[in-house]
Amino acid sequence: MTYRLAAKFYDLFGSKNDLEFYKELALQSGGKALELGVGTARVAIPLARTGVTVVGIDNSVRMLRVAIEKLAKESAAVRRRVILKRGDMRDFELKQTFSFIYIPASTFDHNITVEDRKRTLNCIYKHLKKDGIFAFDLEQAAPSKPEKSWWIDRKEIEGGKMVVRSVFTRRDLTKRRCSLDLFFDVYKNGKLLERYHEYGEVAIISKDEIIGLLEETGFKVVSVYGDFDKSKYQKDSSKIVLVTKRE
Ligand SMILES: C[S@@+](CC[C@H](N)C(=O)[O-])C[C@H]1O[C@@H](n2cnc3c(N)ncnc32)[C@H](O)[C@@H]1O
Repeated sequence: MTYRLAAKFYDLFGSKNDLEFYKELALQSGGKALELGVGTARVAIPLARTGVTVVGIDNSVRMLRVAIEKLAKESAAVRRRVILKRGDMRDFELKQTFSFIYIPASTFDHNITVEDRKRTLNCIYKHLKKDGIFAFDLEQAAPSKPEKSWWIDRKEIEGGKMVVRSVFTRRDLTKRRCSLDLFFDVYKNGKLLERYHEYGEVAIISKDEIIGLLEETGFKVVSVYGDFDKSKYQKDSSKIVLVTKRE
């Protein structure tokens, strides 16, 4: 997914319940944090407000642009604590190590192939301090989830406009891929002003596969949860939330 068109609407529909989870781990780790796929800095800015310094990498110029605009409205101290860089999570070299690396919002699922996943994990391992924490979350293809789904929601924006987002997803469990069509329709007084369409594909990664890859890379899996409330992981959980460590 390029997020080329979705960037300007991302935060509008981006209410997620993961902030406290990542904030707690960042504060526990006590050092500099690295976020991969930082996007609009939805998580990085709240972390910086609590005193954490975050380096954020993203490969989408549009998403980073939104993050920069948001950051400009923050205090000087917060602005200093968020360092944004354009880069690919599968291949980066920052010449520094971190006590906490995290990837929220199922962004690791953007590693479409097994090779992509291995490259990303190797880069993370290289950038994590000994005893450092690496935490991330994946979407789970729970058996109860339908193969095809569709949902629609809407938000009011400035100028009396309304943005309607329609999301269509199709899961192919044989290919281990989920494809998404995103439509954003901007209306004013019931009249359609603009329509944006974005297509993307993400991987469907199982708990067993990711644990195998993590251990192969050298990470110790500390906890696997089914959600950000730290509820026990189950086959039907909607998420796979992992906390790992570099020993
Ligand atoms: C679902 S958004 C998450 C944004 C942000 N982390 C959050 O939690 O709101 C995924 C982000 O990952 C970025 N991304 C996807 N593939 C990437 C890659 N290979 N390297 C770096 N960033 C990537 C996208 O551009 C997008 O900003």
